[in-house]
Amino acid sequence: MNKVVVISGHPDLAASNTNRVILDEISQAVSEVEIRRLDECYPDFNIDVEAEQQALLSADVIVLQFPFYWYSVPALLKKWLDDVLSYNFAYGASGDKLKGKACILSFTVGGPESSYDPLGYNHFKIEQMIRPLQQTVYLTGMQFIEPVYTHGMVYIPGVYNELSDVQSKAKAHAARLCERIHNVIHDPAIQIERFVGEWFSRFDVLPADCAEFTRSLSQDITLDMMGDQYQGHEGFRDWYTTARRTFKPGCEHLVEQIEVREKSKESYRVELRIRLIAETYSDSPLGGQAVNLLVNEVWQVNLVGNLVQITDYQVMAVEQAK
Ligand SMILES: Cc1cc2nc3c(=O)[nH]c(=O)nc-3n(C[C@H](O)[C@H](O)[C@H](O)COP(=O)(O)O)c2cc1C
Repeated sequence: MNKVVVISGHPDLAASNTNRVILDEISQAVSEVEIRRLDECYPDFNIDVEAEQQALLSADVIVLQFPFYWYSVPALLKKWLDDVLSYNFAYGASGDKLKGKACILSFTVGGPESSYDPLGYNHFKIEQMIRPLQQTVYLTGMQFIEPVYTHGMVYIPGVYNELSDVQSKAKAHAARLCERIHNVIHDPAIQIERFVGEWFSRFDVLPADCAEFTRSLSQDITLDMMGDQYQGHEGFRDWYTTARRTFKPGCEHLVEQIEVREKSKESYRVELRIRLIAETYSDSPLGGQAVNLLVNEVWQVNLVGNLVQITDYQVMAVEQAK
């Protein structure tokens, strides 16, 4: 399943010259796509939160499609974000419903590229302007995919641009967006990065049943946890039992760095830097102290179809500078 859900935040697509073209193009080019036109569904801004959340739950890839208004999203899309990304859905103790999904910001910008520059009249780069949206994606645990945006998309007859020019730029934008979606679904590095995000969000919860983990481990996996060796699923279960006796659920694993390198066909080396922020039990070896620990991890991984199998798992303490 690789379902794409597109949230269209344009407040009036009937009056659009470019977002409408982009939506038309992707509805034809992308299979398994659902386009949710907020202007049509919620002209009164009264968002059906339940329906929107259900749509997001069914998605693997979420695209936010919008025209750039006042250096942000249009008010209708902002209302959608405020209502739909609610506590215990998108954030909070059990707010993990979007974790691991890929999110692509796709937007049209009126001003030319040269204006989004320290010396231009918009002063800041687009990447700087969209930081709050990027952080929103991070906080929900979604994977922030490189955004797709196009400049010079405003059309005012006789004043700015030609209709045919902005529309052909909209088609080129749609082609780039389709390629991005294709890469998210098929690019091994992106698939593995998504798997890593899901893997650690399960570790945040520390479920009693560790089958959720072992199904992604090869039978003969070798685990080296800070110098202690464990072998196979049995070894993982031993280590996991100790981890559950030490760390309280609700800890945080932050993936601070990730690098995926192809070794041979379907075989990858994954290098990670993980920060663990956790509370521990008082009767554990860590005696109830709070932990803020940085580790390096190296995994050997096989990716067949879209199934990830870890064959070797190494965790090392990061050397502290003296
Ligand atoms: C209310 C409003 C605010 C806008 N704010 C910006 C802005 O901050 N920066 C910018 O480059 N363009 C801005 N624009 C231009 C829009 O980005 C541009 O008209 C839009 O991307 C074109 O999309 P459409 O053809 O689908 O309507 C604004 C337009 C409107 C109507």
